[in-house]
Amino acid sequence: MPSQSDAEKSKNGAHVACIMDGNGRWAKKRGLPRTAGHTAGEENLAEVVRQAAKRNVGWLTVFGFSTENWVRPKAEVRHILALHKQLFGRIEELNANNVRVQWIGRPFDEPGSKTPLYVQKAIRQAIADTASNTGMTLTVAFDYGSRAELARAVRKSKIELFTVTKQSIEERLYLAQMPPVDVLVRTSGESRISNFLLWQINHAAVYFTQRPWPDFDADDLDAALALLDA
Ligand code: FPP
Repeated sequence: MPSQSDAEKSKNGAHVACIMDGNGRWAKKRGLPRTAGHTAGEENLAEVVRQAAKRNVGWLTVFGFSTENWVRPKAEVRHILALHKQLFGRIEELNANNVRVQWIGRPFDEPGSKTPLYVQKAIRQAIADTASNTGMTLTVAFDYGSRAELARAVRKSKIELFTVTKQSIEERLYLAQMPPVDVLVRTSGESRISNFLLWQINHAAVYFTQRPWPDFDADDLDAALALLDA
């Protein structure tokens, strides 16, 4: 698949990527179970999507669930998966905001994929039902790990071309059409990248905030976007 030219990639506003950290700590501080923090995180994500869609954000990519997250307690994993179903089910709201949904992660039909069928179904449905929206693109990373993505791209380059170049890797990423990230956000005081979009953040500005994800708001989003004017 040919990748977009740089001009095409950047014509539709900034690409903001978020590592949504701190749901657990947000809940603990309030004496609530961790799952309540994730629920608040999903609700806040819906609000951040609305806010981003009103701004000059063309692409919003969020780390919903990593390839490493499967080892969390079963009940917590079940809860986070159900929240993904809920998010992908917000079709009316997404359409009202002209938001197109995408998913990035380990392909369902490839070895190691762990995405249950009901989440696959919700993802497929959201992608289909929002495909004609022309505003912001919301990409949810689910069962995603950047090193696995890169190893696969290199493997495919070798099999298909017998050669590996920067271009051959870029064209074989999970979403070759996704533009590079302009600003990477991580909430809750963590200043690590944690295997998120390692190739795509090559030139990104980085915005770290102490606020946990459920409290990340429009002011934070504006502060992150302001890094692009600096
Ligand atoms: C980090 O909180 C967040 C995650 C593990 C990702 C899950 C994100 C959500 C449920 C928000 C909604 C998003 C979607 C796509 C439905 P943490 O548990 O690591 O927090 P902690 O570091 O404070 O324990």
